[in-house]
Amino acid sequence: MDVGNKVLEIKNLAVLPEYQKKGYGRMLIDFVCQKYKNSFKELQVGTGDSLLTIPFYEKCGFVRSHIIKNFFIDNYDHPIIENGTRLIDMVYLKKQL
Ligand SMILES: CC(C)(COP(=O)(O)OP(=O)(O)OC[C@H]1O[C@@H](n2cnc3c(N)ncnc32)[C@H](O)[C@@H]1OP(=O)(O)O)[C@@H](O)C(=O)NCCC(=O)NCCS
Repeated sequence: MDVGNKVLEIKNLAVLPEYQKKGYGRMLIDFVCQKYKNSFKELQVGTGDSLLTIPFYEKCGFVRSHIIKNFFIDNYDHPIIENGTRLIDMVYLKKQL
């Protein structure tokens, strides 16, 4: 999604469970980077503070940018549990294009 100021945001990214950890997620990110590197300056993504996602984005060259406090409490009517932990804040990561 074009969120303005030459920044693109990944809204949903998922690889079928049986195909995870085979390089497809990284390929999807690399595809977006290649396709938009001349028309945008930055790619960003927001995710829960989870070991299932943040290490993946860091491996793909993202660095932590900012946090939206209580995002998963304020925007959902039920607890979101990932990897046994309740998600609370939204962590934003960014990567220069
Ligand atoms: C997050 C997700 C998209 C990653 O896709 P993937 O195809 O499994 O990731 P890749 O195989 O391309 O992994 C790229 C690198 O990240 C690493 N990585 C991936 N998931 C990781 C994890 N949970 N913890 C640590 N490292 C991880 C891989 O080991 C790989 O590193 P390497 O190149 O050094 O071997 C996938 O796990 C998924 O669909 N999860 C469920 C949906 C989801 O949470 N989406 C994100 C919403 S913000």
